Amino acid sequence: MSGIYYICQIFNKLIYFMKLKLSSFALAALASFPVLGANEATVTLLPSEESPIIAKEIYGQFAEHLGTCIYGGLWVGENSPIPNTNGYRTDVLNALKELKIPVLRWPGGCFADEYHWMDGIGPKENRPRMVNTNWGGTVEDNSFGTHDFFNLCEMLGCEPYLSGNVGSGTVEELAKWVEYITAEEGPMANLRRQNGREKPWKLKYLGVGNESWGCGGNFRPEYYADVYRRYQTYCRNFNGNRLYKIASGSSDYDYNWTEVLMKNARNYMDGISLHYYTVTGWSGRKGSAIDFDSEDYYWTLGKCLEVKDVVKRHCDIMDKYDPKKRIGLLVDEWGTWWDEEPGTKSGHLYQQNTMRDAMVAALSLNTFHRFTDRVRMTNIAQIANVLQSMVLTKDDKMVLTPTYYLFKMYVPHQDAKLLPLNVATPMIRARDGRMVPVVDATASVKDGKTTISLVNTDLNETAEITIDLAGISTKNINGEILTSAGINDYNDFGHPETITLKPFAKGWKQSRGKLTVTLPAKSIVTLTLG
Ligand code: AHR
Repeated sequence: MSGIYYICQIFNKLIYFMKLKLSSFALAALASFPVLGANEATVTLLPSEESPIIAKEIYGQFAEHLGTCIYGGLWVGENSPIPNTNGYRTDVLNALKELKIPVLRWPGGCFADEYHWMDGIGPKENRPRMVNTNWGGTVEDNSFGTHDFFNLCEMLGCEPYLSGNVGSGTVEELAKWVEYITAEEGPMANLRRQNGREKPWKLKYLGVGNESWGCGGNFRPEYYADVYRRYQTYCRNFNGNRLYKIASGSSDYDYNWTEVLMKNARNYMDGISLHYYTVTGWSGRKGSAIDFDSEDYYWTLGKCLEVKDVVKRHCDIMDKYDPKKRIGLLVDEWGTWWDEEPGTKSGHLYQQNTMRDAMVAALSLNTFHRFTDRVRMTNIAQIANVLQSMVLTKDDKMVLTPTYYLFKMYVPHQDAKLLPLNVATPMIRARDGRMVPVVDATASVKDGKTTISLVNTDLNETAEITIDLAGISTKNINGEILTSAGINDYNDFGHPETITLKPFAKGWKQSRGKLTVTLPAKSIVTLTLG
């Protein structure tokens, strides 16, 4: 396994080199880990009264007018032969309800800054068409608009999160959208009534632009900060509705964008966004979603885990200007981004989803939990048929991805109290010197139940994890596992159940306040205690 070096086989306090050589970088990393055997790890739970609630909005989703995310993925129209509930795919609706989605972002993405909401209201046959210039030049017929989105949110029981058009729209247009949705009286409320919705909706989350440094207008941060201040001024709180206003934030390592916005516009915002994709790079090929080797796999996990440093640096900047943490950092786009599946339409970002993607989801969510005092929402990209999806659809068929099952398995963490913990684990050295922990974990408490999620990233070895329970009751323990025979395994229309959630019933032993859990290679387990 060239390029990947295992470290940290320590027996009787002697360092034993497991594989190949140990670089000086790995030695430095090793120094910070306690004495352990190969693929043995310890998790120490550290209950604390003060620890924060894991914002359920960390489990947010994102739907964009891109490829077949909306049309074909969520919406087929009432006259479709595909079974639907008022035009929404019944299979997809039922699957998504299981995820208890707290918030759904729409209509983009890059699409948002070319979207004119008035084109998506009124009789569908009269709606103007447009070319979706960002995403493959597909003709958009606007048949899925504001009413369809808000109805979907009502059916899913989630908060809507609108991305407003700043790049090519006007202040008036955005102000009127808010009025149309939330006002009881006046011309916009009357127009809404005329279009069949008597009562206003509630709208909490309002994004003022998307990627305003790029597809959302190529602004410079100082100019965008002023534009943001102007646009948000006219987005009013009607009839008791209270907007949570979100400034379009940076991507990845652009710390200056966060700095300038916090300096110049912090008093006008409730949140600022951040985008972080697990991607090999922005130009050229990104690599296949399904055809990858173990080096690619560990590199991917390393890149995904880098989100921790990126979030931390943005948080440090925010702490400087907002030490009381009033403003949320919303990672409103994240996930894996691979080459489009061969044979699919260019610009539609349709990709498969393997057990590797589920690993990325687990490690990302674990990381977001740790920052939940500042990271108040995240939105994986995207909900259906685009990038790291929950569901894939083809005609009347649907498959649930490994990422879907991971989100299902993590539902108990939503709005639960974070249970801080320490993990002592061997590390794997991946390409580019990226260090990947063999074991990662997160835990939370809700309604008297403790939920512990454990990840074994190692492709070949089991991990024996000793959990110091700090006195937490283990009267009843239930477990679920997500794993697969091969890391490249995926669900597809011909084989929809290659990877599913399974009960994990016998993989642990208890003794003297400790629980020892044996995790198979490349697996994720959630235990519920109490
Ligand atoms: O999720 C796909 C695209 O990625 C979004 O439209 C854009 O905001 C980002 O660059």
